[in-house]
Amino acid sequence: MVVLLAVVWLGWLAAAPAGAETASPAPSAAAPASAATYVGSQRCQPCHPGVFQAWKDAPHSHTLHAPSDADRSRLAESLRCADRPVRLAIGVKRHVRFVAPDESGVDRVLPCRWNRASDSWDLVGAEPGPVFVDTCAWCHQTGAKPAKEDGVGCEACHGPGSAHVADPEHVDSFAFPASKPELAASVCGACHLQGGLSKDGLSFPDGFLPGTDLREVFEYDWGGLDSAQGDHHAQREIRTVLAGPSKRRVCLDCHDPHRQTATAHASQPQGPLCGECHVSGSAELRSGREAVCPVCEL
Ligand code: HEC
Ligand code: HEC
Ligand code: HEC
Ligand code: HEC
Ligand code: HEC
Ligand code: HEC
Repeated sequence: MVVLLAVVWLGWLAAAPAGAETASPAPSAAAPASAATYVGSQRCQPCHPGVFQAWKDAPHSHTLHAPSDADRSRLAESLRCADRPVRLAIGVKRHVRFVAPDESGVDRVLPCRWNRASDSWDLVGAEPGPVFVDTCAWCHQTGAKPAKEDGVGCEACHGPGSAHVADPEHVDSFAFPASKPELAASVCGACHLQGGLSKDGLSFPDGFLPGTDLREVFEYDWGGLDSAQGDHHAQREIRTVLAGPSKRRVCLDCHDPHRQTATAHASQPQGPLCGECHVSGSAELRSGREAVCPVCEL
């Protein structure tokens, strides 16, 4: 019965005109789902099978994973990382980093990186590598410290789900209303903003929960200029919403958050952001665009 309801509701959503989100209950910035606990993405599948499958097929869900057999045989031949008891692999698209316990059993990032494009090892980082839970986990797991799930699960963006699972009409921090673009920017910005520092000096916004404003927990030069090379469109976009005049729905204009596709982006109106990747005013791409992981080179 509940499943049926969800299907009917999802059908309604698909048919609803743009902007209809404002009719959904708005998340309360003052009271995030702090009383709720993490239940794991698997629990969402029965009622949201379509979203679940899309998410499962996209990089967020498996950005932290067990090393594959291919990873293991490559590792055996690597210069700096052979013979390590590798437990975890990080990264899906271009690069993969590996995590193994040191002599005292603390998980650390190894000083080598598999480069998919060139099919070879890059030497990055030093020994002893950074402690995984203190430097990487927050953005590559869900509900980190301690982690509740590997990868960017549903609850990394929607907040802990126990209250909603018990009563589907409870959608506190779950909605992304058009009227609150800074809350949506905060969710993506929690991981995609480069160079922020938590109040404890960590390179991730420890304590942030979806449905709240990132600026409350993250120290960042919001008005600063970005002089680095490469594709910083995500960072710039987050900043124009959180610190600037733009009140658009940041990433969601161009990306489906569950599929991460950017196929619809070409029909967006020309704006300053297009110049981040394109030669001004055309579809021709600029050179030197690169994905940016905030702290992955450590
Ligand atoms: C028992 C079935 C059920 C389960 C389990 C469930 N949901 Fe839902 N979900 C629903 C229904 C029904 C709605 C529509 C509720 C409404 O609008 O009143 C909904 C709505 C939502 C919405 C839209 C909220 C809005 O107003 O825009 C999100 C996001 C969502 N669910 C995410 C999740 C996540 C994440 C999980 C797993 C942690 C989950 N759901 C588990 C049934 C479920
Ligand atoms: C908990 C951290 C976290 C949050 C929150 C998060 N992301 Fe990500 N995102 C990642 C990580 C990590 C990757 C890299 C995945 C990989 O390649 O291993 C990524 C990758 C992506 C990609 C590239 C995927 C591809 O196919 O190339 C897009 C696009 C993206 N995220 C968009 C978003 C948007 C939009 C939001 C907000 C709705 C968001 N992300 C929220 C951590 C996060
Ligand atoms: C503040 C959040 C954050 C932290 C902390 C973080 N990452 Fe990432 N990481 C990301 C995001 C976001 C992406 C996706 C970047 C993109 O595609 O533009 C990513 C991508 C990656 C990738 C894949 C890059 C690629 O090109 O496919 C690897 C590997 C990686 N991170 C390793 C690490 C390691 C190792 C650490 C700890 C030393 C770490 N990350 C810490 C957010 C983070
Ligand atoms: C990277 C962040 C992110 C992750 C991970 C994520 N969502 Fe979402 N989700 C969003 C955003 C942002 C929206 C609002 C999209 C919009 O309004 O266009 C949304 C909308 C929804 C909706 C309502 C609209 C729709 O597309 O049906 C449901 C239901 C939902 N998510 C469920 C889930 C479930 C279940 C998972 C895990 C299997 C999940 N989400 C994982 C960010 C995320
Ligand atoms: C104007 C449209 C637009 C907006 C707005 C936008 N993106 Fe993108 N993004 C794209 C396109 C197009 C690509 C694909 C680039 C490619 O394939 O090389 C992309 C790629 C990405 C990637 C993958 C980079 C890579 O090459 O691996 C990430 C991560 C990402 N976007 C995150 C975000 C986040 C987070 C936001 C919001 C803060 C955002 N984007 C806003 C158009 C946009
Ligand atoms: C994150 C990088 C990124 C951003 C930002 C971006 N684009 Fe693109 N765009 C791409 C990539 C990658 C392609 C694919 C080029 C290719 O396949 O040759 C593309 C292709 C296009 C195309 C050609 C589509 C086709 O079918 O040939 C148009 C038109 C376009 N973009 C317009 C825009 C507009 C308008 C904006 C700003 C609203 C924008 N882009 C922002 C990366 C980006």
